Amino acid sequence: MTKARAADIDDLRSRFAAHGQEHVFAFWDELDAGSRTALGSQAARIAEELGDLILARDKALGQTDDERGPAIEPVDAIELPRDGGDSTRFEAARARGEAMLADGRVAAFVVAGGQGTRLGFDAPKGAYPVGPVTDRSLFAIQAQKIRGLIRRLGRPVPWYVMTSEATDAETRALFEAENHFGLSENDVWIFPQAMVPAFDFAGRLILEAPHRIFESPDGHGGSLTALAASGALDDMERRGIDTIFYYQVDNPLVRIGDPVYLGFHDERSAEMSCKVVRKIDPMEKVGIVARVDGDVGIVEYTELDDERRFARNEAGELLYWAGNLAIHVLNTGFVRRVSERAFELLPFHASAKKIPCIDAEARLATPEEPNGVKLERFVFDALASAKQVCVLEASAKDEFSPIKNATGNDSPDSCRQDLTAQYRRWLESAGTEVAADIQQIEIDHSIIDGPEDAAKAAFRNVAEAGDVIRVASGMGQ
Ligand code: UD1
Repeated sequence: MTKARAADIDDLRSRFAAHGQEHVFAFWDELDAGSRTALGSQAARIAEELGDLILARDKALGQTDDERGPAIEPVDAIELPRDGGDSTRFEAARARGEAMLADGRVAAFVVAGGQGTRLGFDAPKGAYPVGPVTDRSLFAIQAQKIRGLIRRLGRPVPWYVMTSEATDAETRALFEAENHFGLSENDVWIFPQAMVPAFDFAGRLILEAPHRIFESPDGHGGSLTALAASGALDDMERRGIDTIFYYQVDNPLVRIGDPVYLGFHDERSAEMSCKVVRKIDPMEKVGIVARVDGDVGIVEYTELDDERRFARNEAGELLYWAGNLAIHVLNTGFVRRVSERAFELLPFHASAKKIPCIDAEARLATPEEPNGVKLERFVFDALASAKQVCVLEASAKDEFSPIKNATGNDSPDSCRQDLTAQYRRWLESAGTEVAADIQQIEIDHSIIDGPEDAAKAAFRNVAEAGDVIRVASGMGQ
């Protein structure tokens, strides 16, 4: 090792020591050159933000002890016109959103950095085969929807895909192998989110190998900093994009680029918006959009106490009804502003986890109980910094069927059934005949992306539609 690099390491060691973290170099003398380079560069990157991370750690650990929940009240939302009520406002919003799309102001953005642990799927969740007839993946269905938008608008709509260290290489390989799902390679921008170190309960960084500090993805809130750090925001601005349509990879019913939503966001001069669905069952596992300490915010289902979970208004409806779809519209300028002050505006939340770590003899231990905390940022914490927030109601059956669990609610099976049910409604309203024994339906969204398209296509029956509508009888999957 050269003198300069030895000095660099001495400097790094003292920076870590200043925060009580010198133990990360405990095995330094035994490491070979390659391992020293690996640890040295990881430590140098972490050192850049170490002071802020230590403060974030203390805040996050403090939060878990705070027993007093925030003051919450129900949120005001733009509700769906009921019983065929006045839809003029919705039509005006739609026209406004269509103009934003036609002017090329909108990008699609999917967060796909999480690992499908609950689902028990070993590949990136976006690769999950969900097409009821063809087994098309979540990414493939979303790409069809974007191709549908492009076809309708006659201009490109770029797609930004956020991965993480765990999903990046496989996601890139999948997009290559699938020829970017028929999209132009120039209009697909894949970038990883940042990683953040975990801490043990004594507040010490954790070594998972003699030359490696344990890190995990920094949460979907990290998407806002990653948009800036990756150059994606610059790319958007170069293209004249000022509005980001954000959604999660796990919900194939998402209406990417919904003009009504974009229009209301713009009309309200919102910087960040939330789409919500009416919660019917108090136990549904969705976050609640509410006024939190005065600002629009989200209370996770795990944090909602029973009194509020079951509270009803005079009409007998749930008082905290606005279930978070995790579909947001964000202004690029807002994202830049929040990302520049991320340590202040996007706090880290701590969750206790079993984290692999080595002991003094460098043996890897698999703890049976949580031994530390992982840190995550939540995108919805940015809501508190938005000058205006617009909250729009959507219909769950039309827009929400996420894949979270291997079986039961929010599983691949329930999602395929919801997709088939939606396609059946579109075809029925268009007068396209579907034989009674058909159990699964799948429609190519790049050609038919809603009941209006189905009506325009006006197929008399499924056979006439060729590959655009695929059906299967029997129980299939
Ligand atoms: C989330 C929301 C919940 C909402 C529900 C709707 C949180 C804490 N809760 O719950 O309010 O009602 O979705 O489906 O978010 N991701 C990353 N990087 C990460 C972590 C997550 O990209 O570091 C992505 C995942 O790939 C996924 C999405 O974020 O697309 C959601 O993450 P997940 O942990 O599954 O959130 P939920 O608990 O399902």
